[in-house]
Amino acid sequence: MKLIPSLIAATAALAFATVAPAQPIVIKFSHVVAENTPKGQGALKFKELAEKSLPGKVQVQVFPSSQLFGDAKELEALLLGDVQIIAPSLSKFDRYTKSLQVFDLPFMFDDVAAVDRFQAGPVGQKLLNSMTSKGIVGLAYWHNGMKELSSDKDQLKRPEDIKGLKFRIQASDVLEAQFRAVGANPQKMAFSEVYQALQTGVVDGQENTWSNIWSQKYHEVQKTIAVTNHGVIDYMVITNAKWWNGLPADVRAGLADAMKQATVYANKLANDLNEQDRKKIADAGKAKIQDLSKEDVAAWKKAMAPVWKKFEGDIGKDIIAAASQQ
Ligand code: LMR
Repeated sequence: MKLIPSLIAATAALAFATVAPAQPIVIKFSHVVAENTPKGQGALKFKELAEKSLPGKVQVQVFPSSQLFGDAKELEALLLGDVQIIAPSLSKFDRYTKSLQVFDLPFMFDDVAAVDRFQAGPVGQKLLNSMTSKGIVGLAYWHNGMKELSSDKDQLKRPEDIKGLKFRIQASDVLEAQFRAVGANPQKMAFSEVYQALQTGVVDGQENTWSNIWSQKYHEVQKTIAVTNHGVIDYMVITNAKWWNGLPADVRAGLADAMKQATVYANKLANDLNEQDRKKIADAGKAKIQDLSKEDVAAWKKAMAPVWKKFEGDIGKDIIAAASQQ
């Protein structure tokens, strides 16, 4: 008679031993910048927070520096489900929505605080959902910072200084128009190719934030960096709508919360990192940092102003008005 309970116990033990533990959901987060940048640090913070709040349920794998997918492929990879989270700069969504082009309009925002106010307001929040019909969900905005202009020439104060020069730009029609407005030749190019293009003279210059200039070593292959603050590089952290909506509710909520906290972290860090990297570039003494006078800035503004009108129809007057009020 004792045989039956022990048989039951043995069977239960066997069943327990053979049921494999649930595998964590693997989340690939791919981006194009270095780890020592606002986006690089934000992605690592998201991994840490998500894995902590959903132990054993998710595993976040972060791939920096275009290791997995570069600019040209990352959006397609997200839609194909080859990667679950990416954070392209707001300049790289041209093909999916025209509304986000508002962020590329030259001199739209005075500083990152103004960008932040716009993103946090009703219009900015609506733009997070402007690609749902394309299968893309916007999870958050992450800051990088204001863009500066650099070139391999000594003088970079006024629009006429870059006339005829070749500039690498992100894949954005607004940025193309911006450089054409000042008589320069813009060339769309993936981020991973920029250093070599600058080094070999394929292009003369580029526009980027201090943290990108430092981490990509552009200051080593450029002569002058002008403090133009003429635009912004910020990101939208996005995911594949079908994948996101198919997640168990508790996992989706945990990831949304981790993203919220990682956003606060990354956005706080962005300004400090850019300030630090500006100092490092100055200390390195390779490229000259050129400050601009009010009159210089006014000249750039005036020369680039026609770009606003050109894209008003695509972007929408209401969106432009909301952004320019910040
Ligand atoms: C660039 O292509 O210059 C930037 O968008 C890279 C980035 O993601 O910051």
